[in-house]
Amino acid sequence: MFSRLARPASSIINRNFSTTISNNANVAVLGASGGIGQPLSLLLKMSPFVTRLTLYDIAHTPGVAADLSHISSPAQVKGFMGPNQLADCLKGAEVVLIPAGVPRKPGMTRDDLFNTNASIVRDLVSVCADVCPKAMICIITNPVNSTVPIAAEVLKKKKVYDPRRLFGVTTLDVVRASTFIAEAKGLSVKSVNMPIIGGHSGVTIIPLISQCTPPVSFPQDVREKLTVRIQNAGTEVVEAKAGSGSATLSMAFAAAKFAESLVEAIGGATGKVECAFVESKETEAKYFATPILLGRHGVETNLGMGKLIEYERKLVDAAMPELLANIKKGEEFVKKP
Ligand SMILES: NC(=O)c1ccc[n+]([C@@H]2O[C@H](COP(=O)([O-])OP(=O)(O)OC[C@H]3O[C@@H](n4cnc5c(N)ncnc54)[C@H](O)[C@@H]3O)[C@@H](O)[C@H]2O)c1
Repeated sequence: MFSRLARPASSIINRNFSTTISNNANVAVLGASGGIGQPLSLLLKMSPFVTRLTLYDIAHTPGVAADLSHISSPAQVKGFMGPNQLADCLKGAEVVLIPAGVPRKPGMTRDDLFNTNASIVRDLVSVCADVCPKAMICIITNPVNSTVPIAAEVLKKKKVYDPRRLFGVTTLDVVRASTFIAEAKGLSVKSVNMPIIGGHSGVTIIPLISQCTPPVSFPQDVREKLTVRIQNAGTEVVEAKAGSGSATLSMAFAAAKFAESLVEAIGGATGKVECAFVESKETEAKYFATPILLGRHGVETNLGMGKLIEYERKLVDAAMPELLANIKKGEEFVKKP
């Protein structure tokens, strides 16, 4: 089932040819008992590419791990609860997925989560730096535009930062965009690949409809409406859930898709491309999401943003003030004494 997840976005992916060399990844989920953590752990437990799955949270992990461990798939599952057990959870981890932290309620922006989630990410990544400094760290916790710079600064302080190994998970934006475009054009969603660049909040989410595969065209007013819907899709879910949280199931799907590509790439598979928020030289923003060719060491090649139409260039300009401010806020949080 897992390997039948919809293929990743970006036109380059249509040229994927995968030769898997080794499938035995050690994956840790931090925040594993939460709305995202539980279905994400389920999808990872079902993955043929995961052999050991360690689950950490400040609550409920023994139950979640016991439950998952009865599933008849090869991955060995172990639960760890509370800060005293975090290091044991991370021993030997090659990929660490972090969905720990609070989600939005109606009326909140992702930045409103900063005060709570910044220290959660800082503290978790700090232990990763000590215990599994070579692991690929994938940050799901919002605000991703700030939590990725926080993670980078923590890793730098510990002198183990490798920009190829740190990712902000923006796959859900790609998943949503592909779904909306397929609906709008009556296409099979499996055939739609579309890159999303920039960041992961409101106007910083920049869909590149002009680079969609197969090519699609819309009158400008429809293009603008679709762009705004993709940018606000998270809020659509937050409002529909009416106070009980934000996207969890679609996020688990998206994170599992990203993790699967990463694990396969680490194992030697070639041609794995996913959009992700990484350290970047594409724009003046130090971190910027673009399609990334994944390899044994994480980011193999940043495939960049390609050729933008004028409307998309304006979206990049409009995103920049918020993106730069979010990044600075994250960096300063760690740098402050
Ligand atoms: N990147 C994305 O596209 C995306 C999409 C949706 C949600 N999110 C974010 O993911 C995060 C989690 O969302 P959720 O819906 O799963 O929330 P949730 O409240 O359902 O679950 C969060 C889990 O984190 C745990 N937790 C809290 N502090 C912790 C700590 N110090 N160490 C370990 N675990 C800790 C909680 O016990 C809980 O189990 C939120 O920040 C949300 O905004 C990101």
